[in-house]
Amino acid sequence: MNQPVIVRAIRYPEEYAAVLTLWQNAGEGVHVGMSDTPEEIEKKLARDPDLFLVAEMGDDIVGSVLGGFDGRRGLIYHLAVRADLRQQGIGDSLMAEVEGRLREKGCRKVYLLVTRGNTPAMVFYEKRGWQEMDIHLFGKNLQD
Ligand SMILES: CC(C)(COP(=O)(O)OP(=O)(O)OC[C@H]1O[C@@H](n2cnc3c(N)ncnc32)[C@H](O)[C@@H]1OP(=O)(O)O)[C@@H](O)C(=O)NCCC(=O)NCCS
Repeated sequence: MNQPVIVRAIRYPEEYAAVLTLWQNAGEGVHVGMSDTPEEIEKKLARDPDLFLVAEMGDDIVGSVLGGFDGRRGLIYHLAVRADLRQQGIGDSLMAEVEGRLREKGCRKVYLLVTRGNTPAMVFYEKRGWQEMDIHLFGKNLQD
């Protein structure tokens, strides 16, 4: 029987390495990139310290989600649950908590990106009431 799962804000920097390992082992659905270095995560935490959540089971970090709110829209990044603990409701608990925290901040609408072909994630989000949007997403690097 698994121990109870607690969803709470990350303790940084102590838990950074465990979360990075979780992301690196999450599969193609989580792209670990230039925004995930300690320097960049510190910028993120300076803005939304209460929206970077982890799922803790015993002494282990077994899930994470990174939320953001720019005053108009919310964004969700890097939802991940350790592979051997999936389909037990941990992803659901992480999303419920981050969505609740965004709502409390006055956020009315929230977006997230799903890698093309990540059908399990799409099924998961649709079960939670998320709808795929008919939109072209554009991006631009500003630092290189
Ligand atoms: C997506 C992910 C976070 C879901 O976490 P999880 O803890 O397994 O999800 P839950 O157990 O809370 O599932 C919630 C619901 O989604 C469903 N679901 C979850 N994974 C599913 C899958 N692979 N296929 C079908 N349904 C799935 C569950 O059955 C459950 O439905 P129910 O309430 O009717 O039983 C997890 O699969 C994961 O870490 N994937 C790799 C990383 C990734 O792709 N992240 C998304 C980035 S956009």
